[in-house]
Amino acid sequence: MDKHNILVIDSDMATQIWLGNLLTSHGYQMDGVQNGKEGLEKLSTYSDGSIEIPALVIIDLELVDLTGEEVINIYRNNPTLGEIPIIVFSKRQDLLEISRLFQMGISDYVTKKPGIENELLGKISSSMLRAQTGDAMNKKGKLISFFSAKGGNGTSTICLNLAHCLAENVSPKKVLVVDLVLPIGSIAIMTGTQHENSIANMTAEVKPHDTHKLKSFLLPVENWSVSILPGSESVKESQKLEPSRIVPILNSLLRAFDYVFVDLGKTLSTISQSVMNFSELIAVVVSPDLLTAELTQIAVGHLNQIAIDRENIFLIMNRAVGLAGLTKLEMEEKIGLKIQRTVPYARENFTLTTNKHMPYISQFKNDGISIELQNLAEMLE
Ligand SMILES: Nc1ncnc2c1ncn2[C@@H]1O[C@H](COP(=O)(O)OP(=O)(O)OP(=O)(O)O)[C@@H](O)[C@H]1O
Ligand SMILES: [Mg+2]
Repeated sequence: MDKHNILVIDSDMATQIWLGNLLTSHGYQMDGVQNGKEGLEKLSTYSDGSIEIPALVIIDLELVDLTGEEVINIYRNNPTLGEIPIIVFSKRQDLLEISRLFQMGISDYVTKKPGIENELLGKISSSMLRAQTGDAMNKKGKLISFFSAKGGNGTSTICLNLAHCLAENVSPKKVLVVDLVLPIGSIAIMTGTQHENSIANMTAEVKPHDTHKLKSFLLPVENWSVSILPGSESVKESQKLEPSRIVPILNSLLRAFDYVFVDLGKTLSTISQSVMNFSELIAVVVSPDLLTAELTQIAVGHLNQIAIDRENIFLIMNRAVGLAGLTKLEMEEKIGLKIQRTVPYARENFTLTTNKHMPYISQFKNDGISIELQNLAEMLE
């Protein structure tokens, strides 16, 4: 079999030498260039057919001339290269930047640090395998994150129940709910699921490309058509969380699920922002009160500042607190975004179903709330 050729774009000579030794000793051929401009010149030689396209590209973000992002963008948009896997190998660890790179379609991200050889080699072979089996970027589920600017608005209730309604509509039912509310999540408690592991120790113990091991952390739930990745159960547990692995792990999970819903709760932490940045849609749950309206307006303003488009924000009004409050129009004017749908006040019924660990639609099949949840699920499909 021909040796796989890997193009390395990196301005650091020591990295070039290190990678050259590592790759050739593992049966790869390496072609190295030391700046972005040369990386782009390579691209034109691939495009005109004078040189064979490499099997994979490894690129640093800090090049002497262009930024790594610029080069990746040009590579990603070049039709000749198709879905050639790109691995970013950089010492930068900015969560927002990493999520933006995954959004652009990189295959994986590896932090430059000592002892990283095996992780890098693992990611190289899994990225190449996915590319060969046509499973690179095209077979991916939809990531929807759920956020509220204020606590207690029913974010977890809506996230979980919508995921279940959606799973009931799609076949096979491959919907995952990830609990990323820190330090203590509630999805496992709401579904009555006993668990030893959580997203916190998962990020600490599992490499993002190890799909098999990642899947062992996901749990099926009785009476619900979704799988869950439980949140952390204690402050101590939450401290194990490895933030830089969250987006890469979600990226891997999206290959195994049609939909991944992430409950982010009410924090606009760097972690939640990186997940939002990587999401196709951000469902923002609001209740009709002035405090929620004001806080949501500030949060949406911030999301715009970190380059999240208003079109990707999906406002859901949930009348969790009763009938009184602001009107839909007043809320829309205050927030500056259209409310897509309203979930009516369910009195004690949501609490009753949650106390039984059951999906709302299984208990109150045809009431206004179930119908609205089903309408909403269809909109998210
Ligand atoms: N439409 C509704 N009608 C009546 N009660 C509701 C409605 N939506 C949610 N609730 C109730 O509101 C309470 C808060 O819901 P939930 O825990 O989902 O909110 P949350 O936004 O996730 O809160 P937290 O900020 O603590 O994570 C629960 O008791 C839930 O049953
Ligand atoms: Mg919650």
